[in-house]
Amino acid sequence: MTYECILTATQGAGPRKTGVITLNRPKALNALNDQLMNELGDALHAYEADEGIGCIVITGSERAFAAGADIPAMAQHSFMSAFKSGLISKNWEVLREIRKPVIAAVAGFALGGGCELAMMCDFIIAADTAKFGQPEIKLGIIPGAGGTQRLPRAVGKSKAMDMLLTARMMNADEAERAGLVSRVVPFEKLMDEALAAAEAINAMSGPSVMLIKELVNLAYQAPLSDAVAVERRYFHALFGTDDQREGMAAFVEKRAPVFRHS
Ligand code: HXC
Repeated sequence: MTYECILTATQGAGPRKTGVITLNRPKALNALNDQLMNELGDALHAYEADEGIGCIVITGSERAFAAGADIPAMAQHSFMSAFKSGLISKNWEVLREIRKPVIAAVAGFALGGGCELAMMCDFIIAADTAKFGQPEIKLGIIPGAGGTQRLPRAVGKSKAMDMLLTARMMNADEAERAGLVSRVVPFEKLMDEALAAAEAINAMSGPSVMLIKELVNLAYQAPLSDAVAVERRYFHALFGTDDQREGMAAFVEKRAPVFRHS
């Protein structure tokens, strides 16, 4: 498929590859308009359906992961047009449907919808140049793609309130201390680090990977006792897989496992 606002590439040396999606509207700091979000949704669906892909990385440019939703495109809306159109493309929700891990590799600005997009990914690896923020309040609006909900879950109430109410940006070190990002690396190492993480995941058993993603997300929705019970059942279920037999046999035989994702 040909895209205009994103670039796609397949990376990796192993049998399962990584699908890399690069947001690519450089003149607008990768502002997220409907076309970009629709293309992102299509690319995510294509990688999700591709058996040869184990993991997905979403990244931007050196200057910006994404500076938010496209402001000129939003500026003309009235309440009624926003309400009737459901303002923001339904493809903003696609990330929630993706069962393979999605890593955000963030350099530069991740603001507004850009920060929300990064937070929808399973984890964020940041360049030391990354800057996170939810500056919507300066535009007389509020976040509209989960910022008021995912940010407090990621960094706690006090820091989330501070960022959302004052619109201040958080640098990469603060974001790592607060738990918003999993690791910070020099900008030059960002893609190597994200691709190495993806490659490590690609080598794991696919069913284990998908279940871990599902269960960690359940931690934000279900009571602990219910979620732990679900985890125990899935733990039992994995004893019906080829990969459990292979993984444990490989340990006993002191060799690397070769998972077949079945
Ligand atoms: C459209 C944008 C944009 C955006 C930047 N640009 N952000 N275009 N939508 N969100 C454009 C600028 O207009 C400019 O285009 C070019 O990118 C470079 O930006 P500059 O402002 O010249 O760069 P700089 O001075 O370095 O400042 C960078 C910046 C600033 C701090 C990131 O651009 C900025 O504050 N942008 C807006 C950030 C924001 O408010 N995001 C939240 C949006 S609301 P020209 O043509 O002039 O060169 C949102 C709601 C989400 O995300 C709701 C759910 C979907």
